[in-house]
Amino acid sequence: MQRFVDKIVMVTGAGSGIGQASALRLASEGASLLCVDLNQSTLDETVAAIEAKGSKVVSQLCDVSSEEEVNRSVQACIDSFGKLDVLVHMAGILRFDHCDELSLDNWQKVIDVNLTGTFLLCKAVLPHLVKTGGNIVNAASTASLSGLPWGTAYSASKGGVLAMTRTIAVEYAKRGVRANCVCPGDVRTTMAENVTFPENADFDLLTRVMSMTGAKGPEVVAGVIAMLASEDGKHITGESVRMDGGMLS
Ligand SMILES: NC(=O)c1ccc[n+]([C@@H]2O[C@H](COP(=O)([O-])OP(=O)(O)OC[C@H]3O[C@@H](n4cnc5c(N)ncnc54)[C@H](O)[C@@H]3O)[C@@H](O)[C@H]2O)c1
Repeated sequence: MQRFVDKIVMVTGAGSGIGQASALRLASEGASLLCVDLNQSTLDETVAAIEAKGSKVVSQLCDVSSEEEVNRSVQACIDSFGKLDVLVHMAGILRFDHCDELSLDNWQKVIDVNLTGTFLLCKAVLPHLVKTGGNIVNAASTASLSGLPWGTAYSASKGGVLAMTRTIAVEYAKRGVRANCVCPGDVRTTMAENVTFPENADFDLLTRVMSMTGAKGPEVVAGVIAMLASEDGKHITGESVRMDGGMLS
């Protein structure tokens, strides 16, 4: 399948996990890419893998919670390619704390990256997507849909991402822009593998966040993201696609 020939896609969180898998999938379907991440070395690995496929890629170090850095990255895309067709916004962070022990600083950090970052990216790309009839795929979560123990800030941020995505879908539908989000759960990535549980966590609660079919790799999410972002998804907007191996079924 070559659904992204002549398409320019910006991928955030491209250095790892679902963002990296999405960048590789879209490149293999013909896309030219602007890849951004906070981590230079993992970003370089993604760029090398895309170049090895013979695809065009530009990279930009960017903290998605900084308006200045987000705007600079989107401008780099326009300067390099002249347009933008798709935003795949996967950059995000997770931390676990008991709600009554979560510091305001740690709450704010998660909200800044996951929620404010999504707003800043969407705000910056929308004028360009209006010109191309493009679309957005954001990273929500099963935590947008059901309680995630120790995830007060994360759940609040991801609930906000889902609501924001639907709002953008409605607001921009008549201008030809689509906006969707994915709600993954139990996907094997650096984020999932490096999570630290709070002291005295009641692990019985973990049964709520385990898939029925076993954890899967990030490429399963990348495949759905590619469908949503492609012409195959042209009648889908304001949708949240849950991929959690039956966790919330
Ligand atoms: N893995 C899962 O099971 C799962 C479940 C639900 C939702 N998600 C969401 O999917 C998205 C991708 O997660 P993943 O599992 O691939 O995680 P990951 O940790 O493997 O990748 C996240 C990437 O985002 C980058 N990043 C973090 N903060 C950033 C910032 N401020 N600016 C720019 N880049 C930043 C990291 O450097 C990393 O490369 C996240 O938004 C996450 O919340 C993942």
